[in-house]
Amino acid sequence: MAKIGFIGMGNMGSAILGGLLKRYDAKELLFTAAHREKMEEVTRRTGVPHGESNGDCAARCKYLILAVKPQYFETVFQEIEGQLKPEQVIVSLAPGITISAMKKRLGQNKRFARAMPNTPALLGEGITGLAYEKGSLSPEEENELRGIFEACGKVEVVEERLMNAVGCVSGSSPAFVYMMIEALADGGVKYGLPRATACRMAAQAVLGSARMVLESGKHPEQLKDEVCSPAGTTIQGVSALEEGGFRSALIKACDACYRKSTEIQ
Ligand SMILES: NC(=O)c1ccc[n+]([C@@H]2O[C@H](COP(=O)([O-])OP(=O)(O)OC[C@H]3O[C@@H](n4cnc5c(N)ncnc54)[C@H](OP(=O)(O)O)[C@@H]3O)[C@@H](O)[C@H]2O)c1
Repeated sequence: MAKIGFIGMGNMGSAILGGLLKRYDAKELLFTAAHREKMEEVTRRTGVPHGESNGDCAARCKYLILAVKPQYFETVFQEIEGQLKPEQVIVSLAPGITISAMKKRLGQNKRFARAMPNTPALLGEGITGLAYEKGSLSPEEENELRGIFEACGKVEVVEERLMNAVGCVSGSSPAFVYMMIEALADGGVKYGLPRATACRMAAQAVLGSARMVLESGKHPEQLKDEVCSPAGTTIQGVSALEEGGFRSALIKACDACYRKSTEIQ
């Protein structure tokens, strides 16, 4: 019996698998995907075995991670429902699909958790919001579940009602950050930096700034003020960002993600 099984091995499944392989033996893991060639390629590359079918994978693991897009959940449910056991913990990565909806569909005696990770999990630098019903998991299971996602980075356990908000700030936000890095690099290229240099500089500036927030204990506003000398160059840039609605655009991006999550069922 494998410890952790995945149904779905796309962007997010692969990112989590990459993190897990740093802590777990390939034999403790199992997965399926839609296409046989994809499964064979992943097994060849990682040594992680794949199940013969979704039902086979579901029957052979303690923690079953559902890493398919929400629109494929019903198909997968039909394939696995006969194999699920109350001792298992089924972990959905999908936005919008609630634990109560999954219990209603797959049985009140089954146990579920929701996780909202992000793709930096691949490097062990992800952030995952985790939610489960109080009292539904044993303390050992809570620890094990947390450990699975800690193999991929940091974990915050939140109330389930906050999972859509987590999706904005964890699941989706790498896309916003990549756009910022790309745009900053464009700015450097505009004034003569080679593209690759500009991209490395922008990415390292984001990485370093994020660590300053996490490790200095200072509020981001204070850190921003420390970069802005009076009448200097940076405050001119900050002023231009305010004029362009930078902060408001990011909050509106979260509004849009949140709205979309509430439309998924
Ligand atoms: N991408 C992110 O950054 C991110 C962040 C947080 C949460 N999520 C959530 O994670 C979940 C997966 O997203 P993703 O980005 O990884 O999607 P994805 O890249 O499209 O991958 C989906 C995977 O599901 C497999 N699949 C599709 N139908 C299947 C079926 N019937 N049986 C077995 N496998 C099937 C696909 O197989 P093939 O590879 O063979 O086609 C593929 O491996 C979604 O619910 C998403 O909302 C994603």
